Amino acid sequence: MTRALPQPQETFLIGNLRELDPDRFSESLQRLQELYGDIYRLTIFKTNVVVLSNHEFINFVCDESKFDKKIAAGLLELRNAGGDGLFTAHTSEPNWKLAHKILMPAFGPQAIRDMFPAMMDICSQLILRWERFPGEEIDVCDNLTRLTLDTIALCSFNYRFNSFYQKTMHRFVDAMINVLVESGRRAQRFSLQNTLMMTTTRWYNNEIAYLHNVCDEIVRERRKNPNDVKDLLNRMINGKDPETGYQLSDENIRYQMLTFLVAGHETTSGLLSFALYYLLKNPHTLQKVQVEVDQYGEITVDTLSKLKYIDAVLKETLRLQPTAPGFILTSKEDSVILPGGYEVHKDESIIVVLHKLHRDPKIWDRPEEFVPERMLNGGFENLPLNSWKPFGNGQRSCIGRPFAWQESLLALALVIKHFNIEFVDPSYDLRIKQTLTIKPEGFKIRVRSRQRVGILLDTNITPVNKATEKTSKQKDDTKHLRPMAIFFGSNSGSCESFAATLASEAPLYGYNATVATLDSAVNSLPNDQPTIIITASYEGNPCENAKQFMAYLESKPKLEINYAVFGAGHHDWVNTYQKIPIYIDQMIENAGGTRIIERGVGDSGGDFYGAFEAWKENLFQTLRKDNGEHNIISEEKLSIEIVNLKRNFEQITDSGILLQSKVLVKATEIVPTIKHLEIKLPKGQTYRTGDYLAILPSNPVEIVYRVLKRFNLSTDTQVKIHCSTNTFFPTNHPVSAFDILSGYVELAQPISKKQIETLAALCKDEKEAVQLKNLNGDTYETEILNKRISILDTLELYSSCDLSFAQYLRMLPSLRVRQYSISSSPLWNSEVVTLTFDVLNVPALSGSGQYFGVASNYLANLREGNQISCSVRASNTRFHPPEDTTIPIVMIAAGTGIAPFRGFIQERAAQLVCGRNIGSTILYYGCRSQEDFLYSNEFEKWSSLGAVQVKSVFSRQSNNGKKYVQDLLWEDRNEIASLYCKGARFYTCGSGRKVGASVKTCFIKIIAEIKQCNEEEATKILEKISCDRYNVDVFA
Ligand SMILES: Cc1cc2nc3c(=O)[nH]c(=O)nc-3n(C[C@H](O)[C@H](O)[C@H](O)COP(=O)(O)OP(=O)(O)OC[C@H]3O[C@@H](n4cnc5c(N)ncnc54)[C@H](O)[C@@H]3O)c2cc1C
Ligand SMILES: NC(=O)c1ccc[n+]([C@@H]2O[C@H](COP(=O)([O-])OP(=O)(O)OC[C@H]3O[C@@H](n4cnc5c(N)ncnc54)[C@H](OP(=O)(O)O)[C@@H]3O)[C@@H](O)[C@H]2O)c1
Ligand code: HEM
Ligand SMILES: Cc1cc2nc3c(=O)[nH]c(=O)nc-3n(C[C@H](O)[C@H](O)[C@H](O)COP(=O)(O)O)c2cc1C
Repeated sequence: MTRALPQPQETFLIGNLRELDPDRFSESLQRLQELYGDIYRLTIFKTNVVVLSNHEFINFVCDESKFDKKIAAGLLELRNAGGDGLFTAHTSEPNWKLAHKILMPAFGPQAIRDMFPAMMDICSQLILRWERFPGEEIDVCDNLTRLTLDTIALCSFNYRFNSFYQKTMHRFVDAMINVLVESGRRAQRFSLQNTLMMTTTRWYNNEIAYLHNVCDEIVRERRKNPNDVKDLLNRMINGKDPETGYQLSDENIRYQMLTFLVAGHETTSGLLSFALYYLLKNPHTLQKVQVEVDQYGEITVDTLSKLKYIDAVLKETLRLQPTAPGFILTSKEDSVILPGGYEVHKDESIIVVLHKLHRDPKIWDRPEEFVPERMLNGGFENLPLNSWKPFGNGQRSCIGRPFAWQESLLALALVIKHFNIEFVDPSYDLRIKQTLTIKPEGFKIRVRSRQRVGILLDTNITPVNKATEKTSKQKDDTKHLRPMAIFFGSNSGSCESFAATLASEAPLYGYNATVATLDSAVNSLPNDQPTIIITASYEGNPCENAKQFMAYLESKPKLEINYAVFGAGHHDWVNTYQKIPIYIDQMIENAGGTRIIERGVGDSGGDFYGAFEAWKENLFQTLRKDNGEHNIISEEKLSIEIVNLKRNFEQITDSGILLQSKVLVKATEIVPTIKHLEIKLPKGQTYRTGDYLAILPSNPVEIVYRVLKRFNLSTDTQVKIHCSTNTFFPTNHPVSAFDILSGYVELAQPISKKQIETLAALCKDEKEAVQLKNLNGDTYETEILNKRISILDTLELYSSCDLSFAQYLRMLPSLRVRQYSISSSPLWNSEVVTLTFDVLNVPALSGSGQYFGVASNYLANLREGNQISCSVRASNTRFHPPEDTTIPIVMIAAGTGIAPFRGFIQERAAQLVCGRNIGSTILYYGCRSQEDFLYSNEFEKWSSLGAVQVKSVFSRQSNNGKKYVQDLLWEDRNEIASLYCKGARFYTCGSGRKVGASVKTCFIKIIAEIKQCNEEEATKILEKISCDRYNVDVFA
């Protein structure tokens, strides 16, 4: 009995064509797998395609006696350029066998070894280029494409593209990409359409002609100046089939040249780019790679085979990101029955989706995680047959694999040996760009030399050190000052802002401070100057730009430095409060460091800025004593300068577009306004269900107007900011005060004790000065912090205070990015997200006027069509629906904490509609009344489909004595336990202080009852479960 294959509904004439996005072909197939499962059929126009995604099916079709490579779709179109070159030839074509025989020896072990000097030559050019620009932005894919293109051309054809000596990439690369992309598009059009698109076709043919010309030119040159090197080109020109004596024709040589230039660089540059990405995201792995390469004084051809860990890194990179993301096969027999009884016919293309094969949970433990160790100690060798296939299958697999491997080992080893590397945007998450191959999009790094390494570099480039030129002028002004190094770890900007504030005030105390991320301090903490570290923790983990530093500390380096640490945290994270600053402070002491002062503790849920100021004061006083109070610049000179704040502009550079804005709940006395937005993501960005959207907001106009009024400025007042240090503020040209206040600074933070002191000193009215000073006493917490009285509130109350606008700006922290859970699933729309949020618009705690939350009001007031500075941020790796749709999930939410779960349920509903098996999906939801039951209509619809079971409770309506979600959980405790035994995953979202804490307590009670243990033991059990079965995403 055969079984029908799942298939999306077809559209007249084009079949399932619309399911495939030509620019995101691979992602379209992955999306369809999530909807339809590991095997499904598509009909494109009239052709049938079967798509396979798990090991069981793929292992079956890799049997070469039954299946062969098929040249179809984009590959068939690519024959316009590559003809019967190796890659695009049908296996049955005589030229495939002929070329395979003649060219294969060029990739034998000795031949590849002989290519080492040429590979080193080009790699040295990359290293020199990067050394010339320490700290500057490097576009990773651009640079690595130059590397691999120049390497294949030099090694194979003794031809130099000289890409590192040119500003823009060689024209060959553009033409190649154009041809690859257009070939893909042509495959998705009717042939009549292609014929009618005459201009496009002419352009396409011209691009192909250009590529052929480049190849012909290289061959002409060789024929004119022949040599006896045994390179690929000579083998193409002179090689003979030993059995028949046949040679390649001139036309076929041209096709082979093009094939090797294209196939020989795209995939390898992608591999190297992804490898760097994963190393940066996994600092412990990066450390291990550094340790491995540091064992060798120089990297020689003999070193390469010893680099076992880098070898594992490359294998694991290709597992997660097979840069040739799939291949196409076809059955040799008329019909074959696949496992499960699915029948496939001879005329059908069978697409093997490597992304999914390489994540098949039956083969790979923790498939989404980057774990090179799994490839070591026999791990790779013992993998089931056909479970790792980035180089294709059987006789049609990649001929250039040894070439790519040697080149990649060398490049990665040299880069890691030479440089400390960090992300330009530490929150960068992988975005994929696809032509025929895949690459990371928008991935940028900065590098700094680690040490001079003993390799021979081809040095005919004179370094022009821009950075030195720039800083030397600054040094003139500050050369009498002592150096100080400040390093920060920061995700949402407060620590970065503290670091900048410290640096800007350092000259007052005789120091000239540099500011950089903690990751840039790996191996380079200075021991000749005070080192200041300011950092936060996130769920007990380091910030994105401090991860490498943490791994570095764990390697136990010797650190005889003078240092001080300030930690930012929030007391609601009870178990991990200040975890990272405490750890760093302790580790540096253990490593031989000397504390300048005790660790500072800032609680962002308390007197955050006050704590920082007090610590800063103490730090400078202590340093001043050590310094003999010399070299101090007068405050007056600095008072006209703006502090060196850094807005999060660098992190969010792209814009999304608001498509729709809807009110879900109108504000009442007990509920705020709750809104739903639909936002088109910035180009190229996609997301996973459960991810966040980071938003760079603007301040509400109401508060901006209040500031302008207090300083007697009008909306069009222009100010010109001068600043001797780097600043995010637009400097040296007029900008409106309105724009600065709207977009650069937080205006509503509570005033700190130090700021009160400053304001009191500037009060002309003696009575006001005394009143202000009094606020700094015992009443500070009740009168200032609890009421969240800002500097602006204070200035309005104490009108005699003569604070200048510049002084005011200096006191303000930079504007923070806010995050929102995405409340949709990419299976609904992979380019559009929805958000669900409360609009914070309430009477101010100060007792005067309204308080407007910055981001929620910014979002609420946007109009459809408006642009939004935003970027997708990955959530905790486990806060996503399980890959295996049959695993039961239990979601617990209160209020807008429903946001991510709407996405989870939307996803499961879509999968159910497409015929997939869905495990129990249960939502426990608490809100105030039926009126603020968010998305109740949608949940009803999804419930009736069987996609979810919703259990709700209303806190302001009588409900049989039940008030909150935990009351329902307790009532259902036996069912909860039974779901747990069936492998269910549990998720909670909402306010950490409220639902987060209460649900945790409830689970502890349930465990204690069921396991008959005390609460302490039950807590330990819950903590263990939390690793992968109980995932919490809450906010204070
Ligand atoms: C990972 C993550 C996901 C999130 N997802 C969501 C989501 O999906 N939906 C959602 O709604 N939120 C979500 N949040 C919260 C969101 O990021 C913002 O914190 C929230 O919208 C408030 O931001 P805001 O800029 O409007 O307010 P802000 O300007 O930041 O104001 C908040 C501050 O104002 C103070 N305050 C409150 N009331 C008053 C008052 N009456 N007078 C004076 N001060 C007051 C608060 O104590 C708080 O410190 C999430 C947070 C995180 C970290
Ligand atoms: N990913 C995330 O981290 C994320 C995502 C979305 C939202 N959020 C955050 O989640 C919070 C939701 O705020 P909201 O105003 O919508 O809801 P809320 O204030 O948390 O109230 C929602 C419901 O929870 C009830 N509640 C109060 N205390 C509770 C407790 N201890 N246990 C269980 N339920 C309790 C409330 O009842 P009463 O009011 O009647 O007491 C109300 O019915 C916000 O802070 C938001 O920023 C976080
Ligand atoms: C990490 C780097 C590389 C990856 C992931 C990769 C991947 C692949 C895959 C999957 C195939 C099979 C395609 C199919 O079945 O349709 C293939 C074929 C091929 N590759 Fe590679 N490749 C890489 C590097 C190279 C290099 C460096 C060269 C040249 C020096 C090269 C030359 C070729 C050629 C000529 C073929 C066609 C072989 C044939 O069908 O006979 N590749 N490659
Ligand atoms: C999702 C999330 C997790 C957090 N986890 C912790 C934590 O484990 N320990 C802690 O002390 N503070 C924690 N905090 C509070 C932050 O560390 C604190 O707000 C800090 O000021 C942020 O600094 P930054 O703006 O420089 O990133 C957390 C905050 C968020 C939003």
